[in-house]
Amino acid sequence: MAMQTVKLSSGQNMPVVGLGTWQAQPEETEAIIKIALDSGYRHFDTAFNYNNEESIGKSIKKWLSEGGKREDLFITTKLPNFGNRPSDVEKFLNLSLQRLGLNYVDLYLIHMPFSFIQDKNSFTPAINEDGSFMLDLESQPVAVWKEMEKQVKAGRAKSIGLSNFNISQIQNILNNSEIKPSNVQVELHAFMQQKPLRDFCKLNNISVTAYSPIGSPGTKAHFQAKYNYSVETFPDLLGHPVLNQIASARNKTPAQVLLRHAVQGGVIVIPKSTNPERIKSNIQIFDFKLTDEEMDKLNALDQDKNMRIFDFLFFKGVENHPNYPFKDELH
Ligand code: A2P
Repeated sequence: MAMQTVKLSSGQNMPVVGLGTWQAQPEETEAIIKIALDSGYRHFDTAFNYNNEESIGKSIKKWLSEGGKREDLFITTKLPNFGNRPSDVEKFLNLSLQRLGLNYVDLYLIHMPFSFIQDKNSFTPAINEDGSFMLDLESQPVAVWKEMEKQVKAGRAKSIGLSNFNISQIQNILNNSEIKPSNVQVELHAFMQQKPLRDFCKLNNISVTAYSPIGSPGTKAHFQAKYNYSVETFPDLLGHPVLNQIASARNKTPAQVLLRHAVQGGVIVIPKSTNPERIKSNIQIFDFKLTDEEMDKLNALDQDKNMRIFDFLFFKGVENHPNYPFKDELH
């Protein structure tokens, strides 16, 4: 069945399923994007700091040379948290475009509301001697947003938006913008359904994209390996009995049911996978519809903020940044 799209306030159509690429390694990404294109994906989500834009670009270039049309693709990338200042917006977008081999992206997001100083020698945040991240306390999201608007006017981004901002931070941008955010991308899955933020975005004509829509299995190990940061209670969403009961009754995978649940609730999803079979199956969610009763059962799994996986505390010291978005959840 055909891919559904959401009409953004910018006028663009955004496919409701995209391929997430966080943690997709540069060397595997080119082949993965090809598999995804062949499986029907047209929406790809990356970020400057995923370091796989070049590989995505190579695959896209090949696909375009074989007759694919640029206007059929929807490419999202993001301004890194160490480039969160007005003077860096155009620079980082140009770098992303160069890596992707494109002259525009469909959606450019401010990746995070807080900002770090950039390391002098690399595209990473600078780290203090005690291991904490060097905070950029001068950062002004509204001033950054003004530069984001200029990217739309210059044709480098068709739509612009925000990621990991809380409601009052989004409101602040809305109050001070000429071009409104078309999209907000946040952690969202059955255990953390983001009802207040979704209601707020609906009222303001902002589409919502769910990252980690299947609960990011695998991220616990990543946190430990990369940041030596352990999460004690990492939710096992895919193993939940209610979900598994619905999935087996329908002969669908638990991941397909989770993705369908989000999409049926009006959310755009970007499941990440580098496994060919899972890439293919994660987009096969348009040949069934969950009943009201099934939707209610899945809605009841919501534990909202208690189930947040990405609180960013693995960036040591981030909670001291004035724009840290989840201050009210700190114990
Ligand atoms: P893999 O890349 O090996 O498929 P999320 O998008 O919620 O962050 O989840 C991404 C994680 O979920 C990755 O570890 C990915 O591993 C795994 N994953 C992706 N699709 C599925 C699926 N259909 N069933 C189980 N795990 C999946």
